[in-house]
Amino acid sequence: MPVLNAKRSAPTDDKRWKIVETRMRRLGDRPEALIEALHAAQEAFGFLDDDALQYVSDILGVPPSKVYGVATFYSFFTLKPQGEHTCVVCMGTACYINGAKDILAGLHDKYGIKPRQTTADNKLSLLTARCVGACSLAPAVIIDGEAQGKIKPDELIARLEAM
Ligand code: FES
Repeated sequence: MPVLNAKRSAPTDDKRWKIVETRMRRLGDRPEALIEALHAAQEAFGFLDDDALQYVSDILGVPPSKVYGVATFYSFFTLKPQGEHTCVVCMGTACYINGAKDILAGLHDKYGIKPRQTTADNKLSLLTARCVGACSLAPAVIIDGEAQGKIKPDELIARLEAM
């Protein structure tokens, strides 16, 4: 019989797993925290991939089938980024006061998209997160899984244009 709440290490050493783990711990690492935990993972990574679903399943002691069921049932969960590239803009306090709003405005001016939208050519999906664990680098964004800190709107757009 599987051990419920068996502690598993995070899938990678990406710091964002720490945020997800902390959030789950605060919720008591209980199955009832499933939706909150999935929100935490999606906010940290922009979408829920197999690793995230499995990790949440392991920590909360919820069968993977149920985790997948919940993640696919609710439209606010995304199992993969829609666009070819993903840009997650951190809107946590440190990033917010250091210009995250200007970054979103810059992306909107340039690409005409708001958070949770993808450009018409499917090249770029824009997402937001509450804190991606890089507060000392605020404002932080994550482009295709890679954190970029202290970034200005025009620098970000130049990077996106170069991809
Ligand atoms: S608030 Fe943005 S990384 Fe923490």
